[in-house]
Amino acid sequence: MKLTIKINSKMKAAVYTVYGAPEVLQVKELEKPMPKNNEILVRIKATAVNSGDLRLRKADPFAVRFIFGLTKPRINVLGSVFSGEVESIGDDVKKFKVGDLVFGHTDMSFGAYAEYKCLPEDASIALKPANVSHSEAAVIPFGGVTALHFIKKAMIQPGQKVLVVGASGAVGTAAVQLAKSFGADVTGVCSTANIALVKSIGANKVIDYTKEDFTQNGETYDVIFDTVKAISVSRSINSLHKNGVMILSAAGMSEMIQGSWISMTSNKKVITGVISHKEADIIFLKELIEKDKFKPVIERTYPLEQIAEAHAHVEKGHKKGNVAIEV
Ligand SMILES: NC(=O)c1ccc[n+]([C@@H]2O[C@H](COP(=O)([O-])OP(=O)(O)OC[C@H]3O[C@@H](n4cnc5c(N)ncnc54)[C@H](OP(=O)(O)O)[C@@H]3O)[C@@H](O)[C@H]2O)c1
Repeated sequence: MKLTIKINSKMKAAVYTVYGAPEVLQVKELEKPMPKNNEILVRIKATAVNSGDLRLRKADPFAVRFIFGLTKPRINVLGSVFSGEVESIGDDVKKFKVGDLVFGHTDMSFGAYAEYKCLPEDASIALKPANVSHSEAAVIPFGGVTALHFIKKAMIQPGQKVLVVGASGAVGTAAVQLAKSFGADVTGVCSTANIALVKSIGANKVIDYTKEDFTQNGETYDVIFDTVKAISVSRSINSLHKNGVMILSAAGMSEMIQGSWISMTSNKKVITGVISHKEADIIFLKELIEKDKFKPVIERTYPLEQIAEAHAHVEKGHKKGNVAIEV
C-alpha cells in the first residue's frame, strides 16, 4: 500500500497590494515560507497593530514610498511583532529548537500578519515569558523596545523625577513601567478615561491633561518623555531641571531641529531618533516580565480576519496600551 503524506504549503495572511484605508488589508492564502539554513520558521499565534503598520499601510508620511515602494507597497504583509512556536529550523540553527515558544520583532522585514514567518536565529527573538499569553507576549516588543531604547539613552537613575506624556499608549505604558523599574518617581500624563489604567501600572502621580497643563503647575522633572508628540518643546523645556533630559520618541523633523539646538546651546539635552532592534532588549523585557515588573497592556484583541477593523480602531488615536491580533 502506498502511503501519501499531505503537506499544507499554504498559509493565511493579511495582504495589502495598494496603499490606503484599512480595507486594503485582505486575508488571503500565500505560499508558506521555508527556513534557510540560519533561519527558524515560527507558527505565529499572535501579533499586534502598531503605528508603524498604519504608516506603511497609508504611505504616510509620503517618504514611506521612497523606502517601501513608490506606487505600491513592495512588502505586502505588515506586522512587526509576534509570539508563536518554532515549527522548523534551518540546518545551522543553534539557539532554538522545534517546539520552542518564542516572541520578538521582525524589524524592517514585517510579515507578522500571517500564520508563518521565517527569521534569522540572531534576529530580535527570545523565548516567550512563561507567565503571559501569546497575545500579551506579542504586544511587548513594540512599545517595550521603543521605551527601553530611550530610557537607556537618558540613563534614568533611582529617585529621579520622570514625566511620561502619552502614558496610556503602547510606548507610554511601557515607559511608565520601565522608568519605575529603574527606580524613578513617575508622573503619567493622560486623559480622564485613562487615569485608573496609568495608576494601575505603577505611576506615582497622574496628570489629567484635559484639566491640568503640566507646563503651568510649577513642577520640574529630571526627564520628560513625550511618547506621542503631544507637547510644545519650547513651552515644556521650562519644566525640565537645568541638567534635565527631554525624550521625544515621536518627534518630526521640526522637533529634531529644535531639540538639536537646545542640546547645543544649553545644559539640557533633547533625545530624538529612530530605535534599533536588538535581541538583548527582548531578553531584558522577558526577564522583567517574569519578575512581574512589567505587565503588557491590551485594550482589545481581534482575530486576523478582522485586521481592517483593528486598524480602523488604532487609527482613531485613542487606544489604551495595545491592540492584539490572534492568528
Ligand atoms: N523613534 C522611534 O524609533 C519610534 C519607534 C516606535 C514608535 N514611534 C512613534 O511613537 C508614536 C506611537 O506611539 P504609541 O504607539 O505609543 O501611540 P498610541 O498607543 O497610538 O498612543 C495612543 C495614546 O495616546 C494618548 N494621547 C493622545 N493624545 C494625547 C495627549 N495630548 N496627551 C497625552 N496622551 C495622549 C491616547 O489617549 P487619549 O486620546 O485618551 O488621551 C492613547 O491612549 C508614533 O508617532 C511613532 O512614530 C517612534
